[in-house]
Amino acid sequence: MAGLIDQIEPLKQAALAELKAAPDPAALEQTKGAWIGPNGKFTALMKQLGTLSKEEKPAAGKLINAAKMELEAALAERRSELDLKAALPKEPTDFTLPGRRRALGKLHPLTQVTEDIIRSFRKIGFVVADGPEIEDEYHCFDALNTPADHPARDTQDTFYLAKPDGSQPSTLNPQLLLRTHTSSVQIRVMKSQPPPVRIIVPGRVYRRDNADATHNPTFQQIEGLYVDKNVTVGDLKGTVEFVFKELLGEETKIRFRPHYFSYTEPSFEIDFQNALVKKLGKDWLEIAGCGMVHPAVFENVGYDPEVWTGWAFGFGIERIAMLRYGINDIRLFYENDVRFLKQF
Ligand code: DAH
Repeated sequence: MAGLIDQIEPLKQAALAELKAAPDPAALEQTKGAWIGPNGKFTALMKQLGTLSKEEKPAAGKLINAAKMELEAALAERRSELDLKAALPKEPTDFTLPGRRRALGKLHPLTQVTEDIIRSFRKIGFVVADGPEIEDEYHCFDALNTPADHPARDTQDTFYLAKPDGSQPSTLNPQLLLRTHTSSVQIRVMKSQPPPVRIIVPGRVYRRDNADATHNPTFQQIEGLYVDKNVTVGDLKGTVEFVFKELLGEETKIRFRPHYFSYTEPSFEIDFQNALVKKLGKDWLEIAGCGMVHPAVFENVGYDPEVWTGWAFGFGIERIAMLRYGINDIRLFYENDVRFLKQF
């Protein structure tokens, strides 16, 4: 039998060749066992070290250790090669297949309608104003000439916020509520600047309504306010007509019906008529409230009602979007179902 030292190199070479050729992880583990496992051929060689003389042992030990390290390195390398191979697709890649498309988001239909309305008003010199959704009673009601016993202020109609410390509301510690309309922003803007004013205010409002096909506890409004010298109902009508024709088509007609709002005098409701309304089997559809700003409101914000005149209006966005897109249930707007949203 050849000397132990002479056997190291050929055994190592044979082991290396088998490790490198292992076709899959299972075969590799088997090869490993056959060579460097407890009963492996290379392990057997190491076990024979003890039979060598004192002089031979150190050199042989060194050689065997170096060879074993080489085998372990080869094992690790083959293992990662096989892992990589397993991770690659079995079939060749078909580069002619269509790519995976990323779904593109788009603007919510309510946002689209709001932006269209804003675009129309910008053409005639209006700017967008904003205000808080958590309001106080003063801006939402009192300053708008809406007395304490007005039904709009009923707890059944409005979301009041509880005082966290249980304290009673006072002038410095006002009763807060979720705004019931965007009209509160009229007050905030007029208090913050002198006339003239030409604003529109898109925003979310809240009412204690049960949700059904035409009601939802939150919805969107657009408020308009125009204050200058010698402003008339004629200006109001002309403006509303211009915007509604832009929004709902040239053939759209509008009419004013006398109504009551505490912050305008005279007050009107606006109805409109077009092919969409006819399709619903109706002649006119109510769309907005409006009127000439009440002198008491001007006094509340420090504008002289003898000098300044103005008009205001407010309408719901959902109504217009429902008509425009033929949507029959207001709740669809808030469900965020992409199958619904991507149609617009
Ligand atoms: N705030 C009213 C509502 O929510 C709408 C409205 C009516 C606004 C008349 C106005 C207005 O500015 O003058 O129903």
